[in-house]
Amino acid sequence: MSPRADTATMAKPSLDVNRIRSDFPILSRTVHALPLVYLDNAATTQKPESVIDAMSTYYRSVNSNIHRGVHALSEEATEAYENVRELARQFINAASTREIIFVRGTTEGINLVASAFVPTIVQPGDEILITGLEHHSNIVPWQLVCGQTGATLRVVPISDEGEVRIDEFARKLTPRTKLVAIAHVSNALGTVNPMKSMVAHAHERGIPVLIDGAQAVPHIQVDVRDLGADFYAFSAHKMYGPTGVGVLYGKVELLERMTPYQGGGDMIKSVSFERTTYNDLPYKFEAGTPNIAGVIGLGEAIRYLSRLDRAAIEHHEHELLEQCTSMLKEIEGVRLIGTAREKAGVISFVIEGIHPHDIGTILDQQGIAVRTGHHCAQPVMERFGVPATVRASFAIYNTAEEIDRLKTGLLKVREVFG
Ligand code: ALA
Repeated sequence: MSPRADTATMAKPSLDVNRIRSDFPILSRTVHALPLVYLDNAATTQKPESVIDAMSTYYRSVNSNIHRGVHALSEEATEAYENVRELARQFINAASTREIIFVRGTTEGINLVASAFVPTIVQPGDEILITGLEHHSNIVPWQLVCGQTGATLRVVPISDEGEVRIDEFARKLTPRTKLVAIAHVSNALGTVNPMKSMVAHAHERGIPVLIDGAQAVPHIQVDVRDLGADFYAFSAHKMYGPTGVGVLYGKVELLERMTPYQGGGDMIKSVSFERTTYNDLPYKFEAGTPNIAGVIGLGEAIRYLSRLDRAAIEHHEHELLEQCTSMLKEIEGVRLIGTAREKAGVISFVIEGIHPHDIGTILDQQGIAVRTGHHCAQPVMERFGVPATVRASFAIYNTAEEIDRLKTGLLKVREVFG
């Protein structure tokens, strides 16, 4: 192969989407007697057979509590659980498994930092900085802790395109800013934030940064050390794993300084009525029996994603995004909400004079699942002057034909509403 042909091949990595589709049992079902078109992946992705099987096998043949028994089942369960910690470490390139805390999901990861870290670093009058495109789970935990500590929540506004301007962001970083918390990818707009440069600006001023990675990990290869993240939270269910489990990554030196988030079993070394000593990292933050089957499902989801070419995933989802964007521009009355230069596979829109819920209902009748509503991002809706949007969000198993089905569905919506 000539070097030129080689470069051309490398420039267009591709996914075997038909093969991928056959790994997801739900994709062969019908909805309202039509083949399902699932475009609600930002809410939750579907699960491949291997994830479903791993969890079922665990319950059928290993089920036992971890870190507690000397019997064979407990040892096997502990080993399977701890192996996933190593897989998760590799998945985001953390330096150590001590930095990988299993939590209920991104929301719990953020709440953990708000409860166990923020009170140790803020005084009344200090500030926590977020952006105007955050999900409620990256707003409300900070409001709660600001209420408890006397700190103030500051917000970097977003542009008409749904972007955070880096100069405005840098201007909002003041000597009072004690923490920055930003979504890597916006769930409502699809905007990909320039995280590395945002982290660098914050670090120049000695400010730690938490990244809400819920919408990033399924689309983008994440390297927490390259980003410089101090904390990075993500959920398994948005990356082909089960609900109810996720990861909070934190730098060891910060996690060491933090007091436990919850008390209970497994997070202690010794307990008496007078004094308790806490367990080492990461167990200090994992009180109680965790979601063992969920962690095992997460491990299988990581294995599944790791077998695919991550550049090909980005390329495939980007092509779907471009196809869908062009298609929507041809439909009368459509207004795109969020037109950032850097976007992941999420596209929000409204159609003049038609309520998003009506659009969602008519699409559903045609077997097409999209999300309609405020997407747990009401300040974003307010910024764009809409109560809700229709959101189509893409995954590795979506196809160009499904975007055509969406087009047909939207033309039907136009027909119904005149
Ligand atoms: N955060 C999820 C979404 O964006 C539920 O739909």
